[in-house]
Amino acid sequence: MIKETDNINHTVNLEIELILQAIFNKYGYDFRNYSKAHVKRRLLNRLHASKLKSISEMQHKVLYEPDYFETLLRDLSINVTEMFRDPGFYLALRKEVIPILKTYPFFKVWHAGCSTGEEVYSFAVLLMEEGIYDRAQIYATDFNHDVLDIAKKGIYPIERIKEYTANYQAAGGTQSFSDYYMANYDSVIYDQSLKKNLVFAEHNLVTDSVFAEVNLIICRNVLIYFNKELQNRVISLFYESLINGGYLGLGSKETLQFTNKYEKFAVVNNDEKIYKKKLL
Ligand SMILES: C[S@@+](CC[C@H](N)C(=O)[O-])C[C@H]1O[C@@H](n2cnc3c(N)ncnc32)[C@H](O)[C@@H]1O
Repeated sequence: MIKETDNINHTVNLEIELILQAIFNKYGYDFRNYSKAHVKRRLLNRLHASKLKSISEMQHKVLYEPDYFETLLRDLSINVTEMFRDPGFYLALRKEVIPILKTYPFFKVWHAGCSTGEEVYSFAVLLMEEGIYDRAQIYATDFNHDVLDIAKKGIYPIERIKEYTANYQAAGGTQSFSDYYMANYDSVIYDQSLKKNLVFAEHNLVTDSVFAEVNLIICRNVLIYFNKELQNRVISLFYESLINGGYLGLGSKETLQFTNKYEKFAVVNNDEKIYKKKLL
């Protein structure tokens, strides 16, 4: 016998499929292959906050009110980030990848899903300290234009600076972290010299194609929101974007292991999930 709760759940799931299709058709953002649990949680949170009765009612609002859609877009793209997040990742880059980058006269890096930019500025600091910032071209992309506006400015609330200083030290920082920013009342602004070789741009990993040919891709805390099919698509995109022998850094929470390109990469650091594209 079908229980009443199963029935309701089934209908909610159907409504979710429909709203995701509607968002794709109207706005071009494709969340249909994001993890179901993630999407459901975010939509139901917004449903309650908006005091609406059903996802179908929400769909009507999304279609007729672009501002409401922007709110939902922010809900669906989790933007949590920090300076030198998971410091061990930067230590691993210093040890395993930077020595190779040092052998190139010029190299390109792509931060995919860069959010508000803290990860990108962290990496720029690392390149400065390793003496190779001037040889780098760094592209940083996200599909959310609001976070990119913040990233471009490089101005952040001062309240987390203590935590960031600790992260910087744990990441192998060799100077004083305060050398890289100016404090101004309740904000800090990162030094202009860190911005010189950075380009922030809109790019959607689900619907856009290869971004550039690069030596290193860093994409952390993004794939966890995607289902298997979408993870495979994005990893193929990364594979196509890397030069032979190029590096892919996914961070400790994600892995290539169950994707269709696993055999095409060698593991460089298993804890921080850093891989190297095998030579053809
Ligand atoms: C949790 S943040 C991770 C930020 C940073 N990489 C880090 O680890 O601190 C995830 C980012 O992925 C972005 N994102 C989600 N789906 C995306 C897509 N389809 N294309 C590009 N960026 C996407 C979100 O907008 C968000 O800024």
